[in-house]
Amino acid sequence: MVRPSSEALVSGEVYVPGLPKEYVTAKYGVPADDIAKLASAENPHGASPKAVAAVEEARQRLDIYPDWTARQLREAIGAKYGFDPEGVVCGSGETEVISMVIRAFAAPDDPVLMHAPCFPLYRIYANAEGRCPVYVPMGKDFDPQIELYLETLKKVNPKIAFITNPHNPSGQMLPEADVRRVCEAASEDTLIVLDEAYVHYSEETFGMDLLREYKNLIVLRTMSKAFGLAGLRVGFGISANVDLIRPLRLIKPTWNMGQMQIAGGVAGIDDDEHVQRAVRTVVEMREYVTAGVNNIPGFRAVPNSRANFFLTEILNPELDATRVFNALLQRGVIVKDGSDIEGLGSRYLRVDVNLKKHMDRFLWALGDIRA
Ligand SMILES: Cc1ncc(COP(=O)(O)O)c(C=O)c1O
Repeated sequence: MVRPSSEALVSGEVYVPGLPKEYVTAKYGVPADDIAKLASAENPHGASPKAVAAVEEARQRLDIYPDWTARQLREAIGAKYGFDPEGVVCGSGETEVISMVIRAFAAPDDPVLMHAPCFPLYRIYANAEGRCPVYVPMGKDFDPQIELYLETLKKVNPKIAFITNPHNPSGQMLPEADVRRVCEAASEDTLIVLDEAYVHYSEETFGMDLLREYKNLIVLRTMSKAFGLAGLRVGFGISANVDLIRPLRLIKPTWNMGQMQIAGGVAGIDDDEHVQRAVRTVVEMREYVTAGVNNIPGFRAVPNSRANFFLTEILNPELDATRVFNALLQRGVIVKDGSDIEGLGSRYLRVDVNLKKHMDRFLWALGDIRA
């Protein structure tokens, strides 16, 4: 009988995405324009207008193969951050780069280190490829427990160690000194992967600078968040050590980036105005919405998120995450149910920071829920 190469491909975990608006409209009759979609960490102001214009223009080249290495986009990214384009690899979303990294740098049964909870795709891809996820638990209010992380790093000597900064799903940020400690504590055969999907919202920039100092470091970024291009699918990996990038180019699906992704990425990467607008809104609304949650009896915002989402803790023992999640859906608010996120569980919801009207709808709906 034909069988997939690992049991995980038969019965393994499947990614649970945030629900689309259409689901809520069909099930509860809430008009799409009224829905607060707060489960996919999308941009409050939509797509970068510069990227949209470039995608329009790229329509004229749909009959022509793109450069298989997305050279133009690598050059634009290299120029933006001051690195050799040979040190850049592009993916159809950052998730594709994550899957390439796992395949290229860990062999079957090799350990891959990550926090629990973490972005589920580190674990899902590692399992699907027969690599072995090793977890470092987080502490109170999702303290990254850096001492424990370092201890485990030394004990396990993983082939890959993921750090998500800011962390998903908590938004906690490891300071530069701690990221340095991880790079320095890792053995020569461990690749440190610094996933900066949400870094713009932290207003920190040190990750890229560390690349110049640490040869075992790769930074991953996405254009889905601050650039507003989740539907275009553009992400990248970058390193000052081109030896880390070459294997990724060899393992990636050859023409993984189409003409529109390349053109949109090139125009979007320089759209600082759009990024800054999103950052301003998120920083202001993060303060507003977390203060609002803390004023609603039975709920609490987990402090110190530096991302465009935060965790809401359910303090009321008569409620749990799935009940609150469903009650919010009925009221036209889509969040993430912590019960669907391994390592998070039934006392938490992950909620995006977005425009004030959406934050107000969320706060109203949360306050309206009765046990
Ligand atoms: C931590 C983290 N990394 C990477 C990604 C991937 O983003 P994309 O594949 O849309 O570029 C996400 C998306 O949710 C994420 O949360």
